[in-house]
Amino acid sequence: MVSAPVISVRDLGLTFPAKKGAEPIVVLRSISLEIAAGEFVCIVGPSGCGKTTLLNIITGFLKQSAGEVLVQGAPVKGPDPRRIFVFQDNGVFPWLTVEQNIEFGIARRPSAERREIVHRYVQLVGLTGFEKAYPRELSGGMRQRVEIARALAPNPEIIYMDEPFGALDFITRLKMRADLTRIWQEEKKTILFVTHDIEESVQLADRVVILSSRPGSVRKQVRIDLPRPRDLDSPEYLDLRDEILHTIGMSLGVGAGEEESAGLSLERPNRTVAQSS
Ligand SMILES: Nc1ncnc2c1ncn2[C@@H]1O[C@H](COP(=O)(O)OP(=O)(O)O)[C@@H](O)[C@H]1O
Ligand SMILES: [Mg+2]
Repeated sequence: MVSAPVISVRDLGLTFPAKKGAEPIVVLRSISLEIAAGEFVCIVGPSGCGKTTLLNIITGFLKQSAGEVLVQGAPVKGPDPRRIFVFQDNGVFPWLTVEQNIEFGIARRPSAERREIVHRYVQLVGLTGFEKAYPRELSGGMRQRVEIARALAPNPEIIYMDEPFGALDFITRLKMRADLTRIWQEEKKTILFVTHDIEESVQLADRVVILSSRPGSVRKQVRIDLPRPRDLDSPEYLDLRDEILHTIGMSLGVGAGEEESAGLSLERPNRTVAQSS
């Protein structure tokens, strides 16, 4: 890696203590991971493998039981405004307009500066004309755009995203991925993005970290050295996607075609993938 890592996860483990009469639950086991400044990294793995838990530890919302997490060289002690979390849904405040939502994290700046920042991010996420609208007047995709604009406004160094497009319909999701890619290229933030959608990870990331099923550990890391915007039909794209799919399939011990039932998704237009043989 060229520069010093901005996020460094070392031998991380998490076990939830036993409830009465039950075994303790080992959720994460010896996870080591380094993320460079400006890198776009996706974490993929089956439902329940500990992706959200891992993100909650890295962001400081949850304490690990083993190992350490360094962000910008210091151990994580709790949530930090220099790092922002984008949730799947319900992140925006329904009682605030689009511009008030975006302004929320920069309320202490002078008003001229606030106006300028809001204007810039409204434009960047394509919400011009909707500044005075309330979230209930917007589509799901537009609400996620508000959420992204709000995350970017305070100029954080790192953005954490936990399945942020999971609740959107397929076409909107494709559009949001393209937009997020463009925004990331313009803003040069470090993004750590969790998804259970393999296609999504290959479309977005510089590198995909594949977790095994629970207890989650790093099964493999795959570098995605494809130019953006990505050609979803190129043989290189399809090879990388299949490599990830097979790695996850192996770690689950399932045959091809059973991935869907294991909580993974692989959705494409006009194409059937992972057919059972
Ligand atoms: N507070 C908790 N106590 C016990 N088990 C938990 C708790 N939170 C999560 N888990 C378990 O940890 C596992 C990982 O959950 P999660 O991180 O949400 O997975 P993912 O995001 O990959 O779907 C799940 O099996 C879940 O049941
Ligand atoms: Mg999750």
